[in-house]
Amino acid sequence: MALISLRQLLDHAAERGYGVPAFNINNMEQGLAIMKAASKLDAPVILQASRGARSYAGDPMLKAMVTALAEMYPKIPVVLHQDHGNNEATCLTAMQHGFTSVMMDGSLEGDAKTPASYEYNVDITARVTQMAHAVGASVEGELGVLGSLETGEGEKEDGHGFEGRLSEEELLTDPEQAVDFVSKTRVDALAIAMGTSHGAYKFSRKPDGEILAMHVVEAINRKLPNTHLVMHGSSSVPQELQDLFNSFGGEMPQTYGVPVEEIERGIRCGVRKVNIDTDCRLAMTAAFRQIASEKRSEFDPRKFLIPAMDAMEHLVADRFERFGCAGNASKIQPIPLSEMAARYLTGSLYQDSEAA
Ligand code: G3H
Ligand code: 13P
Ligand code: ZN
Repeated sequence: MALISLRQLLDHAAERGYGVPAFNINNMEQGLAIMKAASKLDAPVILQASRGARSYAGDPMLKAMVTALAEMYPKIPVVLHQDHGNNEATCLTAMQHGFTSVMMDGSLEGDAKTPASYEYNVDITARVTQMAHAVGASVEGELGVLGSLETGEGEKEDGHGFEGRLSEEELLTDPEQAVDFVSKTRVDALAIAMGTSHGAYKFSRKPDGEILAMHVVEAINRKLPNTHLVMHGSSSVPQELQDLFNSFGGEMPQTYGVPVEEIERGIRCGVRKVNIDTDCRLAMTAAFRQIASEKRSEFDPRKFLIPAMDAMEHLVADRFERFGCAGNASKIQPIPLSEMAARYLTGSLYQDSEAA
C-alpha cells in the first residue's frame, strides 16, 4: 500500500474513536517487528524517525526500508513521520525523502534545547504547515515544554530537550493558548505538555494527577474537540521488562512510565497519536541481555535479533489492541498526497479545526 498522510489516519481514528501508537524506528528489525504485529492485527501504522534515527541509518536507507516494508505488507497503511523536527530544513528534507508527515517542534528553538517564545513557535510552525500542506503532507506542532512536574525540570536523557528548571506554566500546555495556536498554525495534530518526558525515568512513583496531568488533556479537548492531540513520552516502562533487563545484568533503577490505562483515558479525550520509543528499546535490549547471559558462546547476531524482534512485536501488538487500533487497517482507503494537497487548497480540511 502507498504511504498515507498522518492527517488521513488521524481523521479515521477520530471518526472511530481509537488511538494510534507512533513507534520510533532506526533499523530494519524494529520496522519488521512493528509491521508483523500490524499485519497480524490489521492495524494501521505510524513509523517515526527522529533526527538521530536519520543520521544513524541515513535518509536513503530509511526511505528504502519503509518502501520495502510497505511493499511486503500491502494491506497495511503506513505513515512515515519526522519526530521532533527542529527547523524548516529538517522538515523539508524529510518530505524530500518520502516522509508523509513532519513534526515541527517549535516549543524549543533550533538547537532543540532552548525553550522558544510563543511567537517563534507560531511563526515557524505556520510556515512549515503552509509548505507541507502544499504537497499534501501533514504537520504536528507542539505547545508547552516536555518535562517533569515532579522535579520541575526539563528532560535531558536523550540529549535533546531543555536541561534546567521550568515553571509549571511552561510544563503544562495552556488550553486557551492551544486554541490560538491551532487556529494560527493550522496544524493537523497538536502535541501537548502534561508531565510526560522522554526516556525511561519519567516518574519516581506510579503517577497520579499531580504529576501526570490528564486533566490538561481533558481541558484542551473540551476547547478543541476537533483537534487531534498527541501524547509524547508515552512509554509505560513495564515492570516486567525492567525486571528482565535487571535480572540479566542490567542496571536500571526502579522507575515508572505512563500507565496504559491513562493513555486509554487520553484516547477517550481526543488523543489520537501516542509516541512510544523507550518501551521498544527496552523490550529489545532486555532480550539481548538474556541471550548474551544464557548463551554465552553465541555469536550469530540473528540469534540475538530474532528474540529481540519477538519481544518488540509482543509489546507493539499489545498497544495496537489496547488503543483500539487493531482491525482498522482494512477500513482505510489510501488518499494520495496530491489529493490531500488539493483538499488543503480548497480549505475543506481546515473547517473542522475551529474551537468549540
Ligand atoms: O524523541 C525522542 C525519541 O525517543 C527519539 O530518541 O533522538 O535518541 O532517536 P532519539
Ligand atoms: P518515550 O521515551 O516515552 O518512548 O517517548 C517517545 C517519544 O515521545 C518520541 O517522540
Ligand atoms: Zn517526543
